[in-house]
Amino acid sequence: MSKNIWIIANWKSNKTIAEALDWVSKVGPGLPEKDNLKVVVCPTFSCLSEIKKAVEVGNFPLMVGSQDLSPFGVGAYTGEESAALLKELISVSILGHSERRQNFSETDEMVAKKVEQAMQNNITPLVCIQGPDTPVLEDYKLIAYEPIFAIGTGNPDTPENANTVAEKLKNKYGQDLEILYGGSVTSSNIASFIREPNINGALIGNASLDAEEFVKITKECL
Ligand code: PGA
Repeated sequence: MSKNIWIIANWKSNKTIAEALDWVSKVGPGLPEKDNLKVVVCPTFSCLSEIKKAVEVGNFPLMVGSQDLSPFGVGAYTGEESAALLKELISVSILGHSERRQNFSETDEMVAKKVEQAMQNNITPLVCIQGPDTPVLEDYKLIAYEPIFAIGTGNPDTPENANTVAEKLKNKYGQDLEILYGGSVTSSNIASFIREPNINGALIGNASLDAEEFVKITKECL
């Protein structure tokens, strides 16, 4: 069977509810359907519920994810979004993104707790690592390799180097790992990344905001 390809849109802190719904109405009907192609949109928390509804109503081949979740369960944690509550809305969660590590002092220990919460609630954690020094624990099965220099810069890593990093990670942590590449992926370079044998897709920021460009990216994966 051919390998899984994950195409994950990370909207970061962008889009009003109206803009988010407009995106779903354009992207949903344009998405290719293929068993091994897993397309996920990760909007802001404020859009999750509306997006989930729109995807269900349209019956689109699109999963919904979050960009973070709480390291704690439900209870007295003001401002947090617990996995136990989010599970009604999401099936995937981006955890340990470098922007969270840099701007919100997120540590490897916090990421590990978040992964645990996600797994207890049947949410697939997508753990972002910035390089070979970021710890990968046994539970981490879906990883995004995102070198800082490549994020939002228009200066992606080379597919060859991303593949070498992915290969090393698999050799170190297990061949069952699925490893995505992230950092300045567009419709022009996605094919060169997923062509690499050890890369299982991409985490996409800027280029995922534009509906037309995002559909183009998914079509490059066929
Ligand atoms: P970018 O962001 O595609 O805008 O480089 C990727 C990411 O931060 O996940």
